[in-house]
Amino acid sequence: MKIGIAGAGKVGFTIGKYFSTHGLKLTGYYSRSLDSSIEAAHFTGSKAFTDIATLARESDVLFLTVPDGAITSVYQEIDSGLLQGKLIGHTSGALTSEAAFPGIEDTGAIGFSVHPLFAVSDRYHTYEQMSDVFFAIEGNPDALRIIMPALSGIGLHVQKIDPEAKVRYHCAAAVASNLVNALLLTSIDMLRECGFSEENARSAITPLVKGNVDHALESGVVESLTGPVERADEGTVRKHLGCLSVRQKQLYCLLSEALVPAAQQKHPDRDYQSIKTLLEHAFISSLRENTQASQQTK
Ligand SMILES: NC(=O)c1ccc[n+]([C@@H]2O[C@H](COP(=O)([O-])OP(=O)(O)OC[C@H]3O[C@@H](n4cnc5c(N)ncnc54)[C@H](OP(=O)(O)O)[C@@H]3O)[C@@H](O)[C@H]2O)c1
Repeated sequence: MKIGIAGAGKVGFTIGKYFSTHGLKLTGYYSRSLDSSIEAAHFTGSKAFTDIATLARESDVLFLTVPDGAITSVYQEIDSGLLQGKLIGHTSGALTSEAAFPGIEDTGAIGFSVHPLFAVSDRYHTYEQMSDVFFAIEGNPDALRIIMPALSGIGLHVQKIDPEAKVRYHCAAAVASNLVNALLLTSIDMLRECGFSEENARSAITPLVKGNVDHALESGVVESLTGPVERADEGTVRKHLGCLSVRQKQLYCLLSEALVPAAQQKHPDRDYQSIKTLLEHAFISSLRENTQASQQTK
């Protein structure tokens, strides 16, 4: 199985290097700039192509690792006559293969998408971390029958998902990464209000954040849960609510409410009803405060 990659960027370099160092045959790269193709080809010991048609002709499988907005147009650049019998995939997290490759059934090709659940921020080093990364895959069942064993055969974790679940899956990934950043930002801002410098705030929360995440991921979120919600400590939650801005209160209420079922699971004999009611009421009153504030600014 010969693999060609269109789009010599972070993901293109990374998967190409992983494939080529784990025994998969890489034809080479086509990219918008020839310099990128040459650099990627050099890095992976493959070839640089000046046109996508030749890359398609010489490959059995094509990965389009271009930005999401360019996937369909790059696919449409390929003469459909060249696609007969080929597998064509992309690596976007939010797009299905069906949406990305319109009319693929008329070309004789079969489509798939495979999304590495990882922030690939670098062209040259991320391939070294690929063996811990999950790849979510969806697409034509005939394509999956070939691609899934090929990827798991080189040590990658592969998870099949329904195309309908793709956006939800991508959103789950954003919740676990980008939205955690939003919480870190909120915490750092609050510590700055307590007199910490930005740098000290980051250092101060590092052991807390790392310890908590490690424990939650190793032992399970329920098992690792601590804090006033878990203890059903209404007094402390009330004090917290009293020190927050309206927006912060909303965030605090929604996230704390989301912890209640986990706390209840950890302590089935503990009564969380009054803390739940407190959070619900505080959330509703913060919505009212919001409405009043926006009416006053009109
Ligand atoms: N980075 C991540 O963390 C990550 C993680 C999972 C999935 N993904 C997905 O992987 C895909 C690629 O992302 P990336 O982060 O690797 O992007 P990237 O670093 O910006 O690389 C994309 C490459 O595509 C090339 N390109 C752009 N338009 C092109 C066109 N019309 N024809 C041919 N080549 C073109 C560019 O090449 P030149 O250098 O030649 O201009 C660029 O190097 C996206 O679908 C993204 O959603 C990214």
